[in-house]
Amino acid sequence: MADIEYLRSLIKEIPDFPQEGILFRDIFPIFRDPKATEMLVSHIVNHINTTIKEKIDVIVGLDARGFLFGPIVALKLNAAFVPSRKKGKLPGKTFSADFKKEYGVDSFEMQVDAIKPGQNVIIVDDLIATGGTAAAAGQLVEKSGGKLLEYIFLIELADLNGRKNLVAPAYSMITF
Ligand code: PRP
Ligand code: ADE
Repeated sequence: MADIEYLRSLIKEIPDFPQEGILFRDIFPIFRDPKATEMLVSHIVNHINTTIKEKIDVIVGLDARGFLFGPIVALKLNAAFVPSRKKGKLPGKTFSADFKKEYGVDSFEMQVDAIKPGQNVIIVDDLIATGGTAAAAGQLVEKSGGKLLEYIFLIELADLNGRKNLVAPAYSMITF
């Protein structure tokens, strides 16, 4: 698929960032290119419209790179956008879940009234490595009573097999 190959060609590899031994995949060149950004969003919306029968009520985007395209996808689906944020950033009552990721530990929060029980939810993020981040976001959707239908990632680091830690199916556009 030409759009996928074009997106793949824009992703930069940075060795030893943010720490030694990590090969960092930088997606920001995609967002400097409006044509590529449009391809990314259209591909995800088309994937959802052609493979998921249910009406999607909520797109959950993960702090911070899931915020780059999650709201655009939500807008195109006439769905709500809900952020899963790093600890201490969201006002009011929140659910929280701790996690380990490829480089370090962290904690996610989601506002308790952001997802209504029974709503159909998709989680989007730029990349799945160990799956720790995505699994924690899935726990927040579960605590909210939402129905998690799928995870969507731009990039999957296949050798880390992060999808084994997820409780819902995962779709990734590009595998390294
Ligand atoms: C990166 C990436 C994913 C997560 C994947 O986020 O955007 O969210 O790591 O790693 P995992 O599958 O091993 O959990 P990061 O925590 O670096 O935050 P950022 O988006 O704020 O840069
Ligand atoms: N998040 C976790 N691992 C990553 C990697 N190798 N590149 C970019 N983001 C990441």
